[in-house]
Amino acid sequence: MFQPPYPLRTARLTLRPMVPGDLDDVYAWQSRPDVVRWMLGAGPRTREQSRASVTAMVAEDALRAEGDCLTLAVVADTRVIGTVELVWRSQADRTAELGYVFHPDHGGRGLATEAARALLDWAFGEFGLHRVYARCHAGNEASARLMARLGMRQEARHVESYLFRGEWADQLVFAVLDREWRSAEG
Ligand SMILES: CC(C)(COP(=O)(O)OP(=O)(O)OC[C@H]1O[C@@H](n2cnc3c(N)ncnc32)[C@H](O)[C@@H]1OP(=O)(O)O)[C@@H](O)C(=O)NCCC(=O)NCCS
Repeated sequence: MFQPPYPLRTARLTLRPMVPGDLDDVYAWQSRPDVVRWMLGAGPRTREQSRASVTAMVAEDALRAEGDCLTLAVVADTRVIGTVELVWRSQADRTAELGYVFHPDHGGRGLATEAARALLDWAFGEFGLHRVYARCHAGNEASARLMARLGMRQEARHVESYLFRGEWADQLVFAVLDREWRSAEG
């Protein structure tokens, strides 16, 4: 079982597993159309749907097997302002996929970058990954800028590769390797 030493702390943030009491904070962003605008299969959620989402995220506190998702609640002051997550895509290839969602009230200050950096430090350090990738709808410019800010290289633009709300959509793929992460951080 692989798990960061909780809590992870950065200059402005605390990262820890989700707890059921985080529902109000999670619902505050999951209910917003602007937050889910570019996310596949996600519409604004009802409070009951957010409750189910929180219950699922509470269990995502460790990577036990390939395919598992690790979700960390990102806390600024006393509120959960977003999540960063890592899906363990391949044990043999030491590869995972990064994801993130933040409340727009806390955007534009580099907090998502700071939280993702802390998770990637753990992922390439203690967890020992070789490669982390992330994907987004080509229209999700904030997400693409975040990946670039993290030092991820754009590897692909898969043209009309998936159906998004009934329309063919392009998907951007970004990635970073362990040696690239270390040299950028060092
Ligand atoms: C993707 C998402 C997390 C990006 O949020 P964000 O606020 O742009 O990212 P950050 O918190 O890292 O802030 C970076 C911004 O703050 C600015 N900034 C200010 N202070 C900063 C600092 N100390 N460090 C870094 N950036 C800083 C940056 O210039 C940047 O602005 P820009 O993109 O206009 O150049 C957010 O848009 C989101 O949650 N979207 C909805 C969910 C979603 O689509 N998730 C991805 C699915 S693929």
